[in-house]
Amino acid sequence: MPGAYWWGNAAKSWVIQDLLGRLPADTPCVVFDYGCGDGGYWPQILRDYPQIQWWGFEPNQRRRQQAQQQLVGLPAKIIGWCELEQIQLNADFIVSFSVLEHVYDRRQYLLMAKKQLASHGIFYLNYDDGHFRPLLDLHQPSTWLPAFKVALHNWLAPLLARCGYVAPFQQRIIQAEIDQLLSELGWHIQTSFYSNLECLKSLIKTLPDAQKDRFMEVWLDLEKTLNREFRRSGPPCYGDGSNLWRVMPSRTLILTHSPESLTPGNEPHPVTATAS
Ligand SMILES: C[S@@+](CC[C@H](N)C(=O)[O-])C[C@H]1O[C@@H](n2cnc3c(N)ncnc32)[C@H](O)[C@@H]1O
Repeated sequence: MPGAYWWGNAAKSWVIQDLLGRLPADTPCVVFDYGCGDGGYWPQILRDYPQIQWWGFEPNQRRRQQAQQQLVGLPAKIIGWCELEQIQLNADFIVSFSVLEHVYDRRQYLLMAKKQLASHGIFYLNYDDGHFRPLLDLHQPSTWLPAFKVALHNWLAPLLARCGYVAPFQQRIIQAEIDQLLSELGWHIQTSFYSNLECLKSLIKTLPDAQKDRFMEVWLDLEKTLNREFRRSGPPCYGDGSNLWRVMPSRTLILTHSPESLTPGNEPHPVTATAS
């Protein structure tokens, strides 16, 4: 079992562990990070797994440059929107970490992922609800202003997006709606899981680096058990009926193309470019 990457975020760590567990040992394989931010922990992963040909897309220029700097000298390429529209990556894996809640046109985003995934590929689609649960403690004045700012952002962002300013967009994902959209667009949900117990996300920040690997192991084991044995459905709360969602505000879907969406005419073509 590969070690833990992405300290501090059990959802991302779980996805990376699952992805690395499926990697062929010596055959090159294409991974596409759709909304890669500053590149996160990919430099370390790419050094440890040289068979990965990594591609990233990031609309924010500052973060794109940070990713480019971090990934210099590795088999990695960051692309912009024009290139993404023209290219057919035929990716073996697509990851999307904490992006969907920031995407204004979710249909277009999911269709583009469909175009970029190979017919046998796997799409790890992760989204978060943390932005929509600002921590307000009336006994702690230091929480008042941040909570107010977040609430204001959540309220304004959809209005600004309708006027064409989509960069700061964020909006809660409603589980039934997104699952319905995925099915309409020809995605098959293989499985889903909830992650990121809030108290453990805070606790890891108090630990020295030397203890973080072990802590991630315990954290991942606990969350796997919670998902396997203690997940229950009930009335929706924060847009999702799972009891886990109330305390684990990160949901990940493992998606594949649904067989009926893969007619011979629309199968992706083989990859024509390499990341370097
Ligand atoms: C919370 S950050 C997550 C970044 C990175 N995935 C990570 O986990 O560190 C959300 C990212 O989604 C990007 N984003 C917003 N709209 C997007 C879109 N339509 N397509 C791809 N990425 C988008 C933002 O620019 C931002 O970098």
